[in-house]
Amino acid sequence: MAEKGGLEGVVVARSRLCSIDGEHGVLIYGGYDIRDLAEHSSYEEVCFLILRGRLPSRAELDAFSGDLVAARDLSEETCSVIDMLAAGAAPMEMLRTAVSVDSVGDPDRASNDPDANFRKATRLIAKMPTMVARYDRVRRGHEPVAPDASLGHAGNFLQMLTGAAPGPSAEKTFDVALILHADHEMNASTFTARVIASTLSDMHSAITGAIGALKGPLHGGANEQVMKLLLAIGGDRDIDLEIRERLARRERIMGFGHRVYKTYDPRAVILKEFSRQLAGESDEPHWFSMSDHIEHVVLAEKGLYPNVDFYSASTYHYLGIETGLFTPIFAMSRVVGWAAHVIEQHADNRLIRPSSEYVGAALRPYVAIDRRAAETTPV
Ligand code: ACO
Repeated sequence: MAEKGGLEGVVVARSRLCSIDGEHGVLIYGGYDIRDLAEHSSYEEVCFLILRGRLPSRAELDAFSGDLVAARDLSEETCSVIDMLAAGAAPMEMLRTAVSVDSVGDPDRASNDPDANFRKATRLIAKMPTMVARYDRVRRGHEPVAPDASLGHAGNFLQMLTGAAPGPSAEKTFDVALILHADHEMNASTFTARVIASTLSDMHSAITGAIGALKGPLHGGANEQVMKLLLAIGGDRDIDLEIRERLARRERIMGFGHRVYKTYDPRAVILKEFSRQLAGESDEPHWFSMSDHIEHVVLAEKGLYPNVDFYSASTYHYLGIETGLFTPIFAMSRVVGWAAHVIEQHADNRLIRPSSEYVGAALRPYVAIDRRAAETTPV
């Protein structure tokens, strides 16, 4: 076994979807630099690229966007489960459950064929924003807002969440944030999805498992922890002292470090600029300035750079999004990457079944329960 564990450096699949140059901070989807996609593309276009392996023509994009719009509504069963969970379930618990429930009514649930998987992927991309927005409205005691066919994916979500049409700058920022989170090579949640798919289990099972993996604070859950850190430090505390004390206690500063990037995460570069711009338009500019300050302290003390979660926290906060929804929003975007990996796994499958190194007791005789001394039981 590799000395450090965690499958570091182990290649577990061949994939045409996404590549990372961790030394130079470059992220590519299907051959396109993330910076070009963020500047020129839309989330819908990036979904087509990730699922189909090429950018769409205008007619193809219109058709795909139309399929997404047509699939936004939820079944009655899914709505009633979300409404029931709104009172007590945490946002990621709701999303994990709602996606699982959604498979029950899916017309393609029994098929892993590429076309069926593509249709299921399209429906999940379309429905997850409706799930998150409905849950949030219901738990706040508001009426759910129906999807609006005249709005794109990002704008429709923000309208379903807040009840008001977003301004063009908020819509663009959110659309780019979705693009930046859409896929990321063999991260923990994607690996989870591929392991599940490799048993020839179905798309919904794989996505449900991936949501569970994303939820953890070492992965997608870090964005919420970043905002909690900013809120805990507040505007008045000595940031240098606060961060140094946390590091001295061997605490991890969420939103920093990465298994693959040894430099600035290119997604964080873009999100930092959004956070900076939004701070300039806000009466709470300190969330950005605090983040910038923390970045410099962590780099000086630990040599660690921000990852995608660090500046997404203040960006989403400036957009008026509640902290508990940050990780579900990550999942809403990453679902396209998970789904494409499931399709790829099904297309060229071999069961993913690694080994473990046994460090337990040596072979020993079975002792009948009445003759078992207490000290023979522990391993
Ligand atoms: N703050 C403080 N110390 C850190 C941090 C951090 N954010 N990240 C790594 N380190 C330290 C570890 O304590 C460890 O130190 P040690 O060798 O003295 O014990 C060393 O760096 C190596 O850490 P590992 O956990 O072995 O490195 P790994 O490659 O597994 O780390 C990870 C990747 C899990 C992301 C880590 O950097 C981390 O915990 N970051 C904070 C959580 C976070 O932001 N997660 C989101 C990642 S991006 C995403 O998943 C979407």
